[in-house]
Amino acid sequence: MINIQLFDPASSTFTYIVGDDQTRRAVIIDPVMEQVDRDLAALAEAGLTLKYILDTHVHADHITGASELRRRTGAPTAASAAGAACADIKLDHGTTLTVGSLELTALATPGHTDDSMSYYVDGHLFTGDTLLIHGTGRSDFQNGDALALWASITEVLYAFPDETIVWPGHDYKGRSKSSIGDERRHNPRVAGKTREEFVEIMANLGLAPPKRIAECVVANRKCGQVDAAAERSAASPSSSPERAPTSPRVTNIDPMALKDLGSIRVIDVREPAEFHGDLGHIPDAQLVPLAGLPAASRGWDKAAPLVVVCRSGQRSMIAAKALSNGGFERVFNLVGGMLAYRAAPVRGIAS
Ligand SMILES: [Fe+2]
Repeated sequence: MINIQLFDPASSTFTYIVGDDQTRRAVIIDPVMEQVDRDLAALAEAGLTLKYILDTHVHADHITGASELRRRTGAPTAASAAGAACADIKLDHGTTLTVGSLELTALATPGHTDDSMSYYVDGHLFTGDTLLIHGTGRSDFQNGDALALWASITEVLYAFPDETIVWPGHDYKGRSKSSIGDERRHNPRVAGKTREEFVEIMANLGLAPPKRIAECVVANRKCGQVDAAAERSAASPSSSPERAPTSPRVTNIDPMALKDLGSIRVIDVREPAEFHGDLGHIPDAQLVPLAGLPAASRGWDKAAPLVVVCRSGQRSMIAAKALSNGGFERVFNLVGGMLAYRAAPVRGIAS
């Protein structure tokens, strides 16, 4: 088996190319959009043909290179059925993919996110953000669940023998791999801990949200099918002429994507009677009627992402463009407004 581990320093993400040395067919796991050229060069250098493009989950810290690799190689994308609906192949627990003489098995390992998968191939586990080296992924957004994470690690991953090699989705300390045995004995969040102690640890990590969560989750729900230049522009407005005041950047999101963004600021630009009316409002939304937005937004942090919502999505688009023109860097418009949100009440309704 061929296993090429590649590293994206901007997001500390590992990408893996796993190939069959006889047929020269390969899969890639967790490609990063900005590194697609590197990945294609690595495949060519190793004489490998890409057969499948896999993601372990909908990432919050980088945009997947899946769609770009699909466009350039013709290989299908594959991911959890619970994650990006755009994936060509929807994986469930136990789904197998054949790559030459290799058989890759998908394992549902939710907890970091609800769609998290690990992949097992011939004594090697690619654990995404479920199990890191002497650590775990966090569980505080995208339907993360510490109890589910505990079960995924202790019941699914620790069911493999000690010698199984663990290849994580990230490392921030220069390490590259671990083993099930090493993690079983030394992972400080899990080894010697009870399930309740693990949940307590996970509840008190005190981590800031990933800087690019808003852009990345929205893009990754579409398998990374975004205008890369526009995304970079939105992330770095001062460096791009496209951010001139007459060309605002507003990203449309749907209620499902809003759910993924966790504690993002939500601005409701309807009138007070609507805010407290039949459609209710999104919990923790801030009521700022459209007419009062210019004055109210004067002191807000322009680098922090925010979502604008109204009844149907029209007033919120006006507000979102105005905010973007005013220098707000990451502005999202809830498409369909509260009518759409009400039809898919993913974060509950307050009234
Ligand atoms: Fe992640």
